[in-house]
Amino acid sequence: MCGIIGAVAQRNVAPILIEGLKRLEYRGYDSAGVALLQDQEIKRIRTTGRVAALEEAVREQNAHGLTGIAHTRWATHGAPTEGNAHPHVSGGIAVVHNGIIENHEALRAELKQAGFSFTSQTDTEVIAHLINHYFKSCRDLFQATREAVARLQGAYAIGVVCDSMPNKLIAARQGSPLLIGVGVEEHFIASDTSALLPVTQRFIYLEDGDVAELGLTSIVVVDKNGAAVSRAIQQSELRAEMVELGEYRHYMQKEIYEQPRALSDTLQELINGGVQPILFGMEAESILSTIERITFLACGTSYHSALTARYWIEALAGIPCNAEIASEYRYRTSVPDPKALIVTISQSGETADTLSALKHAQSLGHEYTLTICNVSESALVRESRLNMITRAGPEIGVASTKAFTTQLAALFTLALVLAKLRGRLNAVEEQKQIAALRALPGQMQRVLALESRVQRWAERFAEKQHALFLGRGMHYPIALEGALKLKEISYIHAEAYPAGELKHGPLALVDKDMPVIAIAPNDALLEKLKSNLQEVRARGGELYVVLDEDTHIQDMDEIHKITLPLHAGWLSPILHVVPLQMLSYHAALQKGTDVDKPRNLAKSVTVE
Ligand code: AGP
Repeated sequence: MCGIIGAVAQRNVAPILIEGLKRLEYRGYDSAGVALLQDQEIKRIRTTGRVAALEEAVREQNAHGLTGIAHTRWATHGAPTEGNAHPHVSGGIAVVHNGIIENHEALRAELKQAGFSFTSQTDTEVIAHLINHYFKSCRDLFQATREAVARLQGAYAIGVVCDSMPNKLIAARQGSPLLIGVGVEEHFIASDTSALLPVTQRFIYLEDGDVAELGLTSIVVVDKNGAAVSRAIQQSELRAEMVELGEYRHYMQKEIYEQPRALSDTLQELINGGVQPILFGMEAESILSTIERITFLACGTSYHSALTARYWIEALAGIPCNAEIASEYRYRTSVPDPKALIVTISQSGETADTLSALKHAQSLGHEYTLTICNVSESALVRESRLNMITRAGPEIGVASTKAFTTQLAALFTLALVLAKLRGRLNAVEEQKQIAALRALPGQMQRVLALESRVQRWAERFAEKQHALFLGRGMHYPIALEGALKLKEISYIHAEAYPAGELKHGPLALVDKDMPVIAIAPNDALLEKLKSNLQEVRARGGELYVVLDEDTHIQDMDEIHKITLPLHAGWLSPILHVVPLQMLSYHAALQKGTDVDKPRNLAKSVTVE
């Protein structure tokens, strides 16, 4: 989704803004723009396509300034054209925006009536005109922005500058992420920390309804009631090089290979301190002992984590679970259960659907909330009573990989804690599970070593139009995840089914052109799965099977096999997803798609 960066400094901020936009590219965008206060005027440059084109235009036009804002736009209202790209300008005021203004049509009509003319199809342009409208009477950008945002319905994070107020940068947020970077006699705004790491590691996280005025040495924040508030400065542990590509060709590749480290970091406290409720926060023991059911809310890959966790928690802790797609849950009439724990799962912690689903659950009276999240300062973490932060580190590739496997590690931890609180995990079993978790990063290294074999599969897949993924039990969500990864970055149409469902419909699709990928761990469902595989072979389908070292599958003609280490028991899904991640990565490479920034997609989906 859209990315925002802004700066007020005593040096030329153009290179800082361009570097920031490059670091926000991963969020997904189709046009970019910058506005700099140059010689008491707004110098605006906008381009479609990549930030590199904007950088070139800035260089050619020698654009510079001590104050400025910049933006990457992911089109919602209006096509991805230069005219619709941000910043939008009204009078001497320039605005960048992330979010959706729901009442933009009514505001547009009102502003037209007042004599403003529009040059774009965007909802954002109303914000620029509205601020200009109020600025004409008060001549104070901070005040005018506060009056303007009071009229907006929907979600926004905005940055504003004005040609008659050099050294001032205004920021406001409601529902979309925005933070302030604190420097020495210079200040910044951005959609996330990664954009600002080259210039600062000190951040202020704005809250919903906040409006801030940044000067060279001052930061003033007012909250949604108009009261001046002091928001704490937080020191980030992230360093600029953590979001750099290094020796890798793509972020997705880097992030696949970071998984053993990410798992060790996420599991460190559990492995050192044992299965303890405190891993989820101070109130965890009382809340987790009270709850009688769990509702998971999440989107995309994070939803697949929820589906997997359901198998673990019901089997190990005996607590009924349901997993719901957040965008569906928030609009359906559900029956609230006061004893239910609402668990949201999200890499970014800013996904609009998941955040709204949590708020909806709270509005229904759900008091017990927990989030599994990769960003400790995110909105979901702030809104939830309990949390566990996955230690995957920044995930830049749009296709989620290390976030998924660390979510699974955190959710398995939750299953163990719940089992222990209910007297279903004795000391011997606890040690056994901890030993298995300790061994997990090493086992994953062995799976990663299979890359060249997966690559050979990918060469065959790249020619295909469709693929079918099969799994059973707790590996069915892994089949779903494999199919999502493949379609997301290689644009090959893929579906996933529980293998037992095959003959209830999808078997009709199977022929020689339909590759079928089956996840065949050595678990209790293996014999059932083998029969399903025979059904595919009998119809001429080409089978690609991911096995465990101790899985015995009778040789069939034309069956392609990749063998993982010995069956990893409950942790098996965390290993079996890795070849599927590598398969989609290599299929995308073969097809020449933009692996880290697949078409039409955004990393962090901050609009509905
Ligand atoms: C995964 O590869 C996707 N890009 C997407 O499904 C993602 O998992 C989903 O948008 C949820 O994001 P979140 O985890 O940040 O909430």
